[in-house]
Amino acid sequence: MQVSDMRALRLIFYTKTQRLHRLNPSIPNSLSSFPQFSRHFLHSTPSLHHSNSTAETAPRAWSIYDPAPGTDGNGNAKKPNLDIVGNKKKGKARLSWVCADCGHSDGQWWGTCRQCNAIGTLKRFSEGGSAEVSEGKTWLSPKAGESRPMRLTDVNRGINQLNWRIPLYGPFGNEVSRVLGGGIVPGSLVLVGGDPGVGKSTLLLQIAAMIAERNDLGQPAPVVYVSGEESVEQIGNRADRLSIGADELFLYSNTEIGDILGKSQPLSPRVIIVDSIQTVYLEGVAGSAGGPAQVKECTSALLRFAKKTNIPILLIGHVTKSGDLAGPHVLEHIVDVVLYMEGEKYSSYRLLRSLKNRFGSTDELGVFEMSQSGLQAVSNPSEMFLSDQYSDSEYLAGLAVAVIMDGSRTFLIEVQALCASGSTAARQVNGIQASRADMIISVLMKQTGLKLQENAIFLNVVSGVKLSETAGDLAVAAAICSSFLEFPIPNNIAFIGEVGLGGELRMVPRMEKRVNTVAKLGYKMCIVPKSAEKSLGSHGFEGMEIIGCRNLKEVINTVFR
Ligand code: TYD
Ligand code: MG
Repeated sequence: MQVSDMRALRLIFYTKTQRLHRLNPSIPNSLSSFPQFSRHFLHSTPSLHHSNSTAETAPRAWSIYDPAPGTDGNGNAKKPNLDIVGNKKKGKARLSWVCADCGHSDGQWWGTCRQCNAIGTLKRFSEGGSAEVSEGKTWLSPKAGESRPMRLTDVNRGINQLNWRIPLYGPFGNEVSRVLGGGIVPGSLVLVGGDPGVGKSTLLLQIAAMIAERNDLGQPAPVVYVSGEESVEQIGNRADRLSIGADELFLYSNTEIGDILGKSQPLSPRVIIVDSIQTVYLEGVAGSAGGPAQVKECTSALLRFAKKTNIPILLIGHVTKSGDLAGPHVLEHIVDVVLYMEGEKYSSYRLLRSLKNRFGSTDELGVFEMSQSGLQAVSNPSEMFLSDQYSDSEYLAGLAVAVIMDGSRTFLIEVQALCASGSTAARQVNGIQASRADMIISVLMKQTGLKLQENAIFLNVVSGVKLSETAGDLAVAAAICSSFLEFPIPNNIAFIGEVGLGGELRMVPRMEKRVNTVAKLGYKMCIVPKSAEKSLGSHGFEGMEIIGCRNLKEVINTVFR
Protein backbone atom coordinates (compact mmCIF):
# COMPACT_ATOMS: atom_id res chain seq x y z
CA MET A 1 0.00 0.00 0.00
CA GLN A 2 1.32 3.39 -0.91
CA VAL A 3 2.06 6.05 1.66
CA SER A 4 -0.48 8.47 0.21
CA ASP A 5 -3.23 5.85 0.50
CA MET A 6 -2.28 5.22 4.04
CA ARG A 7 -2.58 8.89 4.86
CA ALA A 8 -5.99 9.06 3.40
CA LEU A 9 -7.15 6.03 5.31
CA ARG A 10 -5.83 7.43 8.50
CA LEU A 11 -7.63 10.68 7.97
CA ILE A 12 -10.90 8.97 7.19
CA PHE A 13 -10.55 6.76 10.18
CA TYR A 14 -9.75 9.74 12.32
CA THR A 15 -12.78 11.73 11.20
CA LYS A 16 -15.05 8.71 11.39
CA THR A 17 -14.09 7.79 14.95
CA GLN A 18 -14.34 11.42 16.06
CA ARG A 19 -17.81 11.74 14.57
CA LEU A 20 -19.02 8.46 16.01
CA HIS A 21 -17.71 9.43 19.37
CA ARG A 22 -19.48 12.71 19.28
CA LEU A 23 -22.74 11.04 18.34
CA ASN A 24 -22.40 8.05 20.61
CA PRO A 25 -20.05 8.28 23.57
CA SER A 26 -20.58 4.61 24.33
CA ILE A 27 -18.57 3.50 21.27
CA PRO A 28 -15.37 1.97 22.55
CA ASN A 29 -12.33 3.89 21.55
CA SER A 30 -10.50 0.91 20.15
CA LEU A 31 -9.12 0.17 16.71
CA SER A 32 -10.23 -3.43 16.93
CA SER A 33 -13.84 -2.28 17.01
CA PHE A 34 -13.33 -1.30 13.33
CA PRO A 35 -12.00 -4.53 11.95
CA GLN A 36 -11.70 -3.26 8.43
CA PHE A 37 -9.33 -0.56 9.59
CA SER A 38 -7.60 -2.29 12.42
CA ARG A 39 -5.88 -4.70 10.08
CA HIS A 40 -4.27 -1.92 8.10
CA PHE A 41 -3.35 0.15 11.07
CA LEU A 42 -1.76 -2.69 12.89
CA HIS A 43 0.37 -3.42 9.85
CA SER A 44 1.38 0.11 9.30
CA THR A 45 2.06 1.33 12.80
CA PRO A 46 5.66 2.35 12.04
CA SER A 47 4.63 4.77 9.28
CA LEU A 48 2.02 6.25 11.57
CA HIS A 49 4.72 7.24 13.95
CA HIS A 50 6.69 8.85 11.17
CA SER A 51 4.02 11.41 10.66
CA ASN A 52 3.69 13.71 13.62
CA SER A 53 0.65 15.61 12.69
CA THR A 54 -2.43 14.19 11.02
CA ALA A 55 -3.95 17.60 10.57
CA GLU A 56 -0.90 18.76 8.69
CA THR A 57 -1.32 16.15 5.95
CA ALA A 58 -5.07 16.31 5.92
CA PRO A 59 -5.68 18.64 2.95
CA ARG A 60 -3.32 16.67 0.76
CA ALA A 61 -4.84 13.42 1.94
CA TRP A 62 -8.34 14.50 0.80
CA SER A 63 -7.10 15.43 -2.59
CA ILE A 64 -5.92 11.88 -3.14
CA TYR A 65 -9.50 10.64 -3.26
CA ASP A 66 -10.73 13.42 -5.45
CA PRO A 67 -8.70 13.02 -8.65
CA ALA A 68 -9.80 11.15 -11.72
CA PRO A 69 -10.81 7.67 -10.76
CA GLY A 70 -8.20 5.06 -11.39
CA THR A 71 -5.19 7.25 -10.57
CA ASP A 72 -3.69 8.37 -7.35
CA GLY A 73 -2.33 11.81 -6.55
CA ASN A 74 0.86 11.11 -8.43
CA GLY A 75 -0.90 9.98 -11.54
CA ASN A 76 -0.10 6.33 -10.93
CA ALA A 77 -2.75 3.74 -11.33
CA LYS A 78 -4.08 2.80 -7.91
CA LYS A 79 -5.36 -0.54 -6.82
CA PRO A 80 -8.30 0.31 -4.62
CA ASN A 81 -9.77 -2.61 -2.81
CA LEU A 82 -11.49 -0.35 -0.30
CA ASP A 83 -14.17 2.18 -1.05
CA ILE A 84 -14.51 5.59 0.51
CA VAL A 85 -16.10 4.33 3.71
CA GLY A 86 -13.59 1.56 4.10
CA ASN A 87 -15.79 -1.33 2.99
CA LYS A 88 -14.25 -3.93 0.79
CA LYS A 89 -15.22 -3.24 -2.79
CA LYS A 90 -17.37 -5.67 -4.79
CA GLY A 91 -16.23 -9.26 -4.89
CA LYS A 92 -19.30 -10.38 -2.95
CA ALA A 93 -22.85 -10.94 -4.20
CA ARG A 94 -24.70 -7.68 -4.88
CA LEU A 95 -27.90 -6.99 -3.10
CA SER A 96 -30.29 -4.20 -3.84
CA TRP A 97 -33.00 -2.59 -1.80
CA VAL A 98 -36.37 -2.15 -3.48
CA CYS A 99 -39.13 0.13 -2.27
CA ALA A 100 -42.28 -1.93 -1.83
CA ASP A 101 -44.40 1.13 -2.63
CA CYS A 102 -42.91 2.65 -5.76
CA GLY A 103 -40.49 -0.03 -6.92
CA HIS A 104 -37.45 2.28 -6.75
CA SER A 105 -34.27 0.27 -6.36
CA ASP A 106 -31.19 1.41 -4.45
CA GLY A 107 -27.83 -0.17 -3.92
CA GLN A 108 -27.92 0.77 -0.27
CA TRP A 109 -30.42 0.67 2.58
CA TRP A 110 -31.97 3.99 3.56
CA GLY A 111 -34.53 4.71 6.23
CA THR A 112 -36.79 6.33 3.66
CA CYS A 113 -37.23 5.65 -0.02
CA ARG A 114 -35.33 8.33 -1.92
CA GLN A 115 -37.91 8.27 -4.70
CA CYS A 116 -41.27 8.44 -2.91
CA ASN A 117 -40.08 9.27 0.63
CA ALA A 118 -42.06 6.39 2.14
CA ILE A 119 -40.57 5.32 5.45
CA GLY A 120 -39.44 1.78 6.13
CA THR A 121 -40.54 0.39 2.78
CA LEU A 122 -37.12 -0.70 1.47
CA LYS A 123 -36.94 -4.46 1.23
CA ARG A 124 -33.84 -6.57 0.66
CA PHE A 125 -33.84 -7.94 -2.86
CA SER A 126 -31.29 -10.19 -4.46
CA GLU A 127 -30.99 -9.90 -8.20
CA GLY A 128 -31.22 -13.65 -8.59
CA GLY A 129 -34.42 -13.72 -6.50
CA SER A 130 -36.91 -14.45 -9.20
CA ALA A 131 -34.62 -17.01 -10.79
CA GLU A 132 -34.61 -18.97 -7.53
CA VAL A 133 -38.39 -18.98 -7.53
CA SER A 134 -38.52 -20.22 -11.05
CA GLU A 135 -36.62 -23.40 -10.39
CA GLY A 136 -38.72 -26.26 -11.63
CA LYS A 137 -41.38 -23.88 -12.97
CA THR A 138 -40.09 -23.21 -16.43
CA TRP A 139 -42.92 -20.88 -17.39
CA LEU A 140 -41.86 -18.37 -14.78
CA SER A 141 -38.58 -17.56 -16.42
CA PRO A 142 -37.62 -17.57 -20.08
CA LYS A 143 -34.94 -20.08 -20.88
CA ALA A 144 -32.29 -19.02 -23.35
CA GLY A 145 -31.43 -21.58 -25.96
CA GLU A 146 -34.92 -23.05 -26.16
CA SER A 147 -36.09 -21.01 -29.10
CA ARG A 148 -34.55 -20.12 -32.41
CA PRO A 149 -35.48 -17.89 -35.35
CA MET A 150 -38.24 -19.39 -37.50
CA ARG A 151 -39.38 -18.78 -41.05
CA LEU A 152 -42.66 -16.88 -41.32
CA THR A 153 -44.04 -19.58 -43.59
CA ASP A 154 -43.21 -22.22 -40.99
CA VAL A 155 -44.84 -20.16 -38.26
CA ASN A 156 -48.06 -19.80 -40.21
CA ARG A 157 -48.13 -23.31 -41.66
CA GLY A 158 -51.18 -25.27 -40.64
CA ILE A 159 -52.83 -22.29 -38.93
CA ASN A 160 -56.23 -21.31 -40.23
CA GLN A 161 -56.33 -17.62 -39.45
CA LEU A 162 -60.12 -17.62 -39.48
CA ASN A 163 -60.42 -20.33 -36.82
CA TRP A 164 -57.32 -19.30 -34.95
CA ARG A 165 -59.04 -17.05 -32.44
CA ILE A 166 -61.34 -18.42 -29.77
CA PRO A 167 -64.77 -17.25 -30.95
CA LEU A 168 -67.46 -15.77 -28.73
CA TYR A 169 -71.07 -16.31 -29.70
CA GLY A 170 -74.39 -14.47 -29.52
CA PRO A 171 -75.07 -10.74 -29.22
CA PHE A 172 -73.04 -10.50 -25.99
CA GLY A 173 -70.12 -12.44 -27.48
CA ASN A 174 -70.21 -10.34 -30.66
CA GLU A 175 -70.04 -7.15 -28.64
CA VAL A 176 -66.98 -8.39 -26.72
CA SER A 177 -65.38 -9.73 -29.93
CA ARG A 178 -65.86 -6.37 -31.60
CA VAL A 179 -63.76 -4.68 -28.92
CA LEU A 180 -61.12 -7.42 -29.03
CA GLY A 181 -60.93 -7.18 -32.83
CA GLY A 182 -62.26 -10.74 -33.17
CA GLY A 183 -62.27 -13.64 -30.73
CA ILE A 184 -59.71 -14.16 -27.99
CA VAL A 185 -56.19 -14.66 -29.35
CA PRO A 186 -54.55 -17.84 -27.97
CA GLY A 187 -51.60 -17.01 -25.75
CA SER A 188 -52.65 -13.39 -25.25
CA LEU A 189 -52.77 -11.49 -21.99
CA VAL A 190 -55.79 -9.19 -21.77
CA LEU A 191 -56.17 -6.63 -18.98
CA VAL A 192 -59.69 -5.39 -18.14
CA GLY A 193 -59.81 -2.21 -16.06
CA GLY A 194 -62.67 -0.20 -14.63
CA ASP A 195 -64.08 1.47 -11.54
CA PRO A 196 -65.10 -0.71 -8.60
CA GLY A 197 -68.57 -2.17 -9.12
CA VAL A 198 -68.76 -1.32 -12.80
CA GLY A 199 -69.11 -5.00 -13.67
CA LYS A 200 -65.66 -6.37 -14.51
CA SER A 201 -66.10 -9.62 -12.60
CA THR A 202 -69.55 -10.07 -14.12
CA LEU A 203 -68.21 -9.50 -17.64
CA LEU A 204 -65.39 -12.00 -17.28
CA LEU A 205 -67.57 -14.61 -15.59
CA GLN A 206 -69.99 -14.38 -18.51
CA ILE A 207 -67.12 -14.73 -21.00
CA ALA A 208 -65.76 -17.69 -19.02
CA ALA A 209 -69.17 -19.37 -19.03
CA MET A 210 -69.59 -18.80 -22.76
CA ILE A 211 -66.29 -20.54 -23.58
CA ALA A 212 -66.85 -23.28 -21.02
CA GLU A 213 -70.24 -24.06 -22.53
CA ARG A 214 -69.25 -24.10 -26.16
CA ASN A 215 -65.79 -23.66 -27.65
CA ASP A 216 -64.71 -23.35 -31.27
CA LEU A 217 -65.06 -27.11 -31.80
CA GLY A 218 -68.62 -27.02 -30.57
CA GLN A 219 -67.52 -28.88 -27.45
CA PRO A 220 -67.35 -27.64 -23.87
CA ALA A 221 -63.82 -26.60 -22.90
CA PRO A 222 -62.37 -26.17 -19.41
CA VAL A 223 -62.05 -22.59 -18.20
CA VAL A 224 -60.47 -21.63 -14.87
CA TYR A 225 -61.80 -18.57 -13.05
CA VAL A 226 -59.37 -17.58 -10.30
CA SER A 227 -60.37 -14.97 -7.76
CA GLY A 228 -58.15 -13.44 -5.13
CA GLU A 229 -61.00 -11.22 -3.97
CA GLU A 230 -63.93 -13.54 -3.55
CA SER A 231 -64.46 -17.04 -2.22
CA VAL A 232 -65.64 -19.76 -4.58
CA GLU A 233 -69.05 -19.57 -2.90
CA GLN A 234 -69.36 -15.89 -3.72
CA ILE A 235 -68.44 -16.52 -7.34
CA GLY A 236 -70.86 -19.44 -7.39
CA ASN A 237 -73.52 -17.13 -6.06
CA ARG A 238 -72.94 -14.68 -8.87
CA ALA A 239 -72.92 -17.49 -11.42
CA ASP A 240 -76.27 -18.60 -10.07
CA ARG A 241 -77.63 -15.09 -10.47
CA LEU A 242 -76.41 -15.11 -14.06
CA SER A 243 -77.98 -18.56 -14.61
CA ILE A 244 -74.61 -20.06 -15.43
CA GLY A 245 -74.35 -23.79 -15.02
CA ALA A 246 -71.36 -24.69 -17.18
CA ASP A 247 -69.86 -28.04 -16.21
CA GLU A 248 -66.40 -27.16 -17.42
CA LEU A 249 -66.09 -23.93 -15.48
CA PHE A 250 -63.61 -24.32 -12.63
CA LEU A 251 -63.57 -21.82 -9.77
CA TYR A 252 -60.48 -21.29 -7.70
CA SER A 253 -59.86 -18.84 -4.87
CA ASN A 254 -56.12 -18.26 -4.45
CA THR A 255 -53.58 -15.45 -4.52
CA GLU A 256 -50.19 -17.05 -5.21
CA ILE A 257 -49.37 -16.93 -8.90
CA GLY A 258 -47.15 -20.02 -8.82
CA ASP A 259 -49.90 -22.04 -7.20
CA ILE A 260 -52.62 -20.62 -9.44
CA LEU A 261 -50.78 -21.47 -12.65
CA GLY A 262 -49.40 -24.73 -11.34
CA LYS A 263 -52.88 -26.00 -10.42
CA SER A 264 -54.57 -24.64 -13.54
CA GLN A 265 -52.17 -26.00 -16.13
CA PRO A 266 -53.01 -29.71 -15.63
CA LEU A 267 -56.65 -28.92 -16.52
CA SER A 268 -55.49 -27.69 -19.98
CA PRO A 269 -57.91 -24.78 -19.80
CA ARG A 270 -58.99 -22.93 -22.93
CA VAL A 271 -58.85 -19.66 -20.99
CA ILE A 272 -57.71 -18.61 -17.51
CA ILE A 273 -59.28 -15.63 -15.76
CA VAL A 274 -57.50 -13.88 -12.90
CA ASP A 275 -59.53 -11.49 -10.70
CA SER A 276 -57.53 -9.33 -9.94
CA ILE A 277 -53.86 -8.49 -10.55
CA GLN A 278 -53.83 -6.34 -7.40
CA THR A 279 -54.64 -9.30 -5.16
CA VAL A 280 -52.12 -11.85 -6.43
CA TYR A 281 -48.46 -12.13 -5.51
CA LEU A 282 -45.38 -14.01 -6.58
CA GLU A 283 -43.26 -15.64 -3.92
CA GLY A 284 -39.73 -14.27 -3.67
CA VAL A 285 -40.64 -10.81 -4.94
CA ALA A 286 -40.43 -7.84 -2.58
CA GLY A 287 -43.52 -6.00 -1.42
CA SER A 288 -47.09 -6.92 -0.68
CA ALA A 289 -49.72 -7.88 -3.24
CA GLY A 290 -50.77 -4.86 -5.28
CA GLY A 291 -47.40 -3.14 -4.85
CA PRO A 292 -45.59 -2.04 -8.01
CA ALA A 293 -42.89 -4.70 -7.84
CA GLN A 294 -45.47 -7.46 -7.30
CA VAL A 295 -47.84 -6.20 -9.99
CA LYS A 296 -45.02 -6.02 -12.50
CA GLU A 297 -43.51 -9.41 -11.69
CA CYS A 298 -46.89 -11.17 -11.53
CA THR A 299 -47.93 -9.74 -14.88
CA SER A 300 -44.62 -10.77 -16.43
CA ALA A 301 -45.02 -14.29 -15.05
CA LEU A 302 -48.58 -14.49 -16.42
CA LEU A 303 -47.39 -13.24 -19.80
CA ARG A 304 -44.64 -15.84 -19.97
CA PHE A 305 -47.11 -18.55 -18.98
CA ALA A 306 -49.59 -17.42 -21.62
CA LYS A 307 -46.96 -17.31 -24.37
CA LYS A 308 -45.45 -20.62 -23.40
CA THR A 309 -48.66 -22.61 -23.03
CA ASN A 310 -50.75 -20.68 -25.59
CA ILE A 311 -53.49 -20.38 -22.96
CA PRO A 312 -54.96 -16.86 -23.04
CA ILE A 313 -55.26 -15.08 -19.69
CA LEU A 314 -57.87 -12.44 -18.95
CA LEU A 315 -56.80 -10.24 -16.08
CA ILE A 316 -58.81 -7.74 -14.05
CA GLY A 317 -57.07 -4.52 -12.97
CA HIS A 318 -58.29 -1.90 -10.53
CA VAL A 319 -58.45 1.77 -11.30
CA THR A 320 -57.11 4.64 -9.19
CA LYS A 321 -59.03 7.77 -8.18
CA SER A 322 -57.59 9.66 -11.13
CA GLY A 323 -58.95 7.03 -13.52
CA ASP A 324 -55.65 5.31 -14.37
CA LEU A 325 -55.10 1.62 -14.01
CA ALA A 326 -53.61 1.05 -10.56
CA GLY A 327 -50.00 -0.03 -10.49
CA PRO A 328 -47.00 0.89 -12.58
CA HIS A 329 -47.54 2.04 -16.14
CA VAL A 330 -45.26 -0.76 -17.22
CA LEU A 331 -48.28 -3.02 -16.65
CA GLU A 332 -49.97 -1.58 -19.71
CA HIS A 333 -46.80 -2.12 -21.72
CA ILE A 334 -46.49 -5.77 -20.73
CA VAL A 335 -50.00 -6.94 -21.59
CA ASP A 336 -51.26 -7.43 -25.16
CA VAL A 337 -54.66 -5.81 -24.78
CA VAL A 338 -56.00 -3.21 -22.33
CA LEU A 339 -59.78 -3.00 -22.14
CA TYR A 340 -61.57 -0.38 -20.11
CA MET A 341 -65.09 -0.69 -18.79
CA GLU A 342 -66.93 2.47 -17.92
CA GLY A 343 -70.39 3.54 -16.94
CA GLU A 344 -72.16 6.44 -15.30
CA LYS A 345 -73.00 6.02 -11.64
CA TYR A 346 -76.75 6.15 -12.08
CA SER A 347 -76.98 4.62 -15.50
CA SER A 348 -77.19 0.94 -16.29
CA TYR A 349 -75.21 1.33 -19.50
CA ARG A 350 -71.64 0.05 -19.61
CA LEU A 351 -69.15 0.86 -22.33
CA LEU A 352 -66.24 -1.43 -23.07
CA ARG A 353 -63.45 0.07 -25.12
CA SER A 354 -59.89 -0.90 -25.82
CA LEU A 355 -57.05 1.43 -24.92
CA LYS A 356 -54.43 -0.86 -26.42
CA ASN A 357 -54.82 -3.83 -28.72
CA ARG A 358 -51.96 -5.72 -30.33
CA PHE A 359 -54.43 -7.72 -32.41
CA GLY A 360 -57.01 -5.16 -33.48
CA SER A 361 -58.21 -1.58 -33.59
CA THR A 362 -58.59 0.57 -30.49
CA ASP A 363 -61.56 2.43 -32.00
CA GLU A 364 -64.16 -0.19 -31.26
CA LEU A 365 -66.71 0.32 -28.56
CA GLY A 366 -68.81 -2.33 -26.88
CA VAL A 367 -72.11 -1.19 -25.41
CA PHE A 368 -73.81 -3.23 -22.70
CA GLU A 369 -76.60 -2.81 -20.25
CA MET A 370 -76.34 -4.15 -16.70
CA SER A 371 -79.56 -6.00 -16.04
CA GLN A 372 -80.80 -8.23 -13.23
CA SER A 373 -79.27 -11.20 -15.00
CA GLY A 374 -75.90 -9.70 -15.91
CA LEU A 375 -74.61 -7.77 -18.88
CA GLN A 376 -76.68 -7.71 -22.07
CA ALA A 377 -75.52 -6.32 -25.39
CA VAL A 378 -77.38 -3.14 -26.37
CA SER A 379 -78.77 -3.70 -29.82
CA ASN A 380 -79.31 -0.07 -30.74
CA PRO A 381 -76.86 2.07 -28.79
CA SER A 382 -78.29 5.36 -30.10
CA GLU A 383 -81.26 4.73 -27.81
CA MET A 384 -78.92 5.35 -24.88
CA PHE A 385 -79.37 9.06 -25.45
CA LEU A 386 -83.05 8.91 -26.21
CA SER A 387 -84.26 8.86 -22.67
CA ASP A 388 -87.99 9.49 -22.29
CA GLN A 389 -87.89 13.25 -22.12
CA TYR A 390 -85.87 13.40 -25.34
CA SER A 391 -87.68 10.77 -27.35
CA ASP A 392 -89.58 13.58 -29.03
CA SER A 393 -86.52 15.80 -29.30
CA GLU A 394 -87.19 16.19 -33.00
CA TYR A 395 -89.58 18.81 -31.70
CA LEU A 396 -87.30 20.23 -29.00
CA ALA A 397 -85.35 23.27 -30.18
CA GLY A 398 -82.01 24.29 -28.70
CA LEU A 399 -80.44 20.85 -28.33
CA ALA A 400 -77.21 19.72 -30.05
CA VAL A 401 -74.86 16.79 -29.55
CA ALA A 402 -71.11 17.41 -29.16
CA VAL A 403 -68.36 14.80 -29.30
CA ILE A 404 -65.57 15.33 -26.81
CA MET A 405 -62.56 13.29 -25.78
CA ASP A 406 -61.20 12.70 -22.34
CA GLY A 407 -57.78 11.11 -22.60
CA SER A 408 -58.36 8.43 -25.18
CA ARG A 409 -62.05 8.12 -24.40
CA THR A 410 -64.81 9.59 -26.48
CA PHE A 411 -68.02 11.00 -25.00
CA LEU A 412 -71.15 12.29 -26.62
CA ILE A 413 -72.77 15.07 -24.66
CA GLU A 414 -75.86 17.17 -25.14
CA VAL A 415 -75.57 20.95 -25.19
CA GLN A 416 -78.72 22.98 -24.51
CA ALA A 417 -79.35 26.60 -25.38
CA LEU A 418 -82.27 28.88 -24.62
CA CYS A 419 -82.65 32.23 -26.33
CA ALA A 420 -85.32 34.26 -24.54
CA SER A 421 -86.24 37.41 -26.45
CA GLY A 422 -87.20 40.47 -24.45
CA SER A 423 -85.78 39.00 -21.22
CA THR A 424 -83.68 41.23 -19.06
CA ALA A 425 -81.92 38.33 -17.31
CA ALA A 426 -78.14 38.24 -17.53
CA ARG A 427 -76.46 35.54 -19.58
CA GLN A 428 -76.13 32.21 -17.68
CA VAL A 429 -73.65 29.55 -18.67
CA ASN A 430 -73.40 26.09 -17.13
CA GLY A 431 -70.69 23.56 -17.97
CA ILE A 432 -69.07 25.76 -20.62
CA GLN A 433 -66.30 28.30 -20.13
CA ALA A 434 -68.05 31.72 -20.00
CA SER A 435 -65.43 33.45 -22.16
CA ARG A 436 -65.71 30.71 -24.80
CA ALA A 437 -69.51 31.06 -24.83
CA ASP A 438 -69.20 34.87 -25.21
CA MET A 439 -66.87 34.40 -28.14
CA ILE A 440 -69.14 31.92 -29.93
CA ILE A 441 -72.19 34.19 -29.43
CA SER A 442 -70.28 37.22 -30.77
CA VAL A 443 -69.05 35.24 -33.80
CA LEU A 444 -72.61 34.08 -34.52
CA MET A 445 -73.88 37.70 -34.39
CA LYS A 446 -71.08 39.11 -36.53
CA GLN A 447 -70.49 36.31 -39.06
CA THR A 448 -74.00 34.91 -39.59
CA GLY A 449 -76.05 37.98 -38.90
CA LEU A 450 -78.26 36.44 -36.19
CA LYS A 451 -79.76 39.19 -34.02
CA LEU A 452 -78.82 37.57 -30.75
CA GLN A 453 -78.24 40.86 -28.95
CA GLU A 454 -81.97 41.21 -28.27
CA ASN A 455 -82.03 37.89 -26.38
CA ALA A 456 -81.01 36.62 -23.00
CA ILE A 457 -79.04 33.43 -23.68
CA PHE A 458 -78.80 30.44 -21.33
CA LEU A 459 -76.39 27.62 -22.03
CA ASN A 460 -76.26 24.27 -20.29
CA VAL A 461 -74.43 20.97 -20.69
CA VAL A 462 -76.69 18.07 -19.74
CA SER A 463 -75.84 15.79 -16.81
CA GLY A 464 -73.24 18.06 -15.27
CA VAL A 465 -70.47 17.35 -17.77
CA LYS A 466 -67.85 20.08 -18.29
CA LEU A 467 -67.23 21.00 -21.90
CA SER A 468 -63.55 21.87 -21.79
CA GLU A 469 -62.61 21.07 -25.38
CA THR A 470 -62.88 23.42 -28.36
CA ALA A 471 -64.30 20.46 -30.30
CA GLY A 472 -67.63 21.31 -28.67
CA ASP A 473 -67.78 24.86 -30.13
CA LEU A 474 -69.83 23.82 -33.14
CA ALA A 475 -72.45 22.07 -31.00
CA VAL A 476 -72.77 25.18 -28.79
CA ALA A 477 -73.25 27.37 -31.87
CA ALA A 478 -75.76 24.90 -33.36
CA ALA A 479 -77.76 24.76 -30.11
CA ILE A 480 -77.97 28.57 -29.97
CA CYS A 481 -79.07 28.79 -33.63
CA SER A 482 -81.64 26.05 -33.05
CA SER A 483 -83.19 27.86 -30.11
CA PHE A 484 -83.03 31.27 -31.75
CA LEU A 485 -84.54 30.03 -35.02
CA GLU A 486 -86.93 27.75 -33.10
CA PHE A 487 -85.86 24.98 -35.41
CA PRO A 488 -85.23 21.62 -33.69
CA ILE A 489 -82.15 19.67 -34.74
CA PRO A 490 -83.02 16.01 -35.50
CA ASN A 491 -81.67 13.84 -32.69
CA ASN A 492 -79.44 11.76 -34.92
CA ILE A 493 -77.02 14.54 -35.88
CA ALA A 494 -73.72 15.13 -34.07
CA PHE A 495 -71.44 18.16 -34.34
CA ILE A 496 -67.64 18.16 -34.20
CA GLY A 497 -65.48 21.23 -34.76
CA GLU A 498 -63.82 24.32 -33.38
CA VAL A 499 -65.22 27.74 -34.30
CA GLY A 500 -62.74 30.45 -35.31
CA LEU A 501 -63.26 34.21 -35.00
CA GLY A 502 -64.08 34.45 -38.71
CA GLY A 503 -66.89 31.95 -38.24
CA GLU A 504 -64.77 29.30 -39.96
CA LEU A 505 -64.74 25.69 -38.77
CA ARG A 506 -61.44 24.21 -37.71
CA MET A 507 -60.14 20.68 -37.37
CA VAL A 508 -59.77 19.15 -33.94
CA PRO A 509 -57.47 16.26 -33.01
CA ARG A 510 -58.52 12.62 -33.37
CA MET A 511 -61.38 13.31 -35.78
CA GLU A 512 -61.53 9.72 -36.94
CA LYS A 513 -61.91 8.31 -33.45
CA ARG A 514 -64.70 10.76 -32.63
CA VAL A 515 -66.56 10.11 -35.87
CA ASN A 516 -66.18 6.36 -35.33
CA THR A 517 -67.80 6.54 -31.92
CA VAL A 518 -70.67 8.64 -33.28
CA ALA A 519 -71.24 6.09 -36.05
CA LYS A 520 -71.09 3.19 -33.60
CA LEU A 521 -73.74 4.87 -31.48
CA GLY A 522 -76.12 4.84 -34.42
CA TYR A 523 -76.11 8.49 -35.51
CA LYS A 524 -77.14 9.22 -39.07
CA MET A 525 -75.26 12.43 -39.76
CA CYS A 526 -72.11 14.11 -38.48
CA ILE A 527 -71.23 17.74 -39.23
CA VAL A 528 -67.47 18.25 -39.39
CA PRO A 529 -65.11 20.96 -40.70
CA LYS A 530 -64.62 20.80 -44.48
CA SER A 531 -60.90 20.12 -44.02
CA ALA A 532 -61.70 16.92 -42.11
CA GLU A 533 -64.22 15.63 -44.65
CA LYS A 534 -61.60 14.52 -47.17
CA SER A 535 -59.48 12.54 -44.74
CA LEU A 536 -62.56 10.88 -43.26
CA GLY A 537 -64.19 10.22 -46.63
CA SER A 538 -62.28 7.02 -47.39
CA HIS A 539 -63.41 5.28 -44.21
CA GLY A 540 -66.73 3.53 -43.93
CA PHE A 541 -68.68 4.75 -40.93
CA GLU A 542 -71.54 2.25 -40.76
CA GLY A 543 -73.69 4.19 -43.21
CA MET A 544 -73.43 7.50 -41.39
CA GLU A 545 -73.36 10.57 -43.57
CA ILE A 546 -70.41 12.91 -43.02
CA ILE A 547 -70.98 16.52 -44.05
CA GLY A 548 -68.10 18.96 -44.23
CA CYS A 549 -68.83 22.69 -43.78
CA ARG A 550 -66.44 25.62 -44.21
CA ASN A 551 -68.12 28.01 -41.80
CA LEU A 552 -71.13 28.58 -39.55
CA LYS A 553 -73.22 29.97 -42.43
CA GLU A 554 -72.85 26.67 -44.28
CA VAL A 555 -73.81 24.76 -41.12
CA ILE A 556 -77.00 26.83 -40.76
CA ASN A 557 -77.85 26.31 -44.43
CA THR A 558 -77.28 22.54 -44.11
CA VAL A 559 -79.00 21.81 -40.80
CA PHE A 560 -81.77 24.43 -40.64
CA ARG A 561 -83.07 24.07 -44.15
P1 TYD B 1 -69.06 -6.64 -10.34
O1 TYD B 1 -68.90 -7.47 -11.55
O2 TYD B 1 -68.87 -7.29 -9.03
O3 TYD B 1 -68.13 -5.34 -10.43
P2 TYD B 1 -66.54 -5.22 -10.36
O4 TYD B 1 -65.97 -6.58 -10.46
O5 TYD B 1 -66.20 -4.33 -11.50
O6 TYD B 1 -66.24 -4.57 -9.06
O7 TYD B 1 -70.48 -5.99 -10.46
C1 TYD B 1 -71.03 -5.42 -9.37
C2 TYD B 1 -72.26 -4.63 -9.70
O8 TYD B 1 -73.05 -5.14 -10.75
C3 TYD B 1 -73.12 -4.64 -8.48
O9 TYD B 1 -73.33 -3.29 -8.11
C4 TYD B 1 -74.34 -5.33 -8.83
C5 TYD B 1 -74.40 -5.27 -10.32
N1 TYD B 1 -74.98 -6.47 -10.92
C6 TYD B 1 -76.19 -6.40 -11.54
O10 TYD B 1 -76.82 -5.35 -11.60
N2 TYD B 1 -76.72 -7.52 -12.12
C7 TYD B 1 -76.08 -8.70 -12.09
O11 TYD B 1 -76.58 -9.70 -12.62
C8 TYD B 1 -74.81 -8.78 -11.42
C9 TYD B 1 -74.07 -10.06 -11.34
C10 TYD B 1 -74.30 -7.64 -10.86
MG1 MG C 1 -64.90 -7.67 -8.99
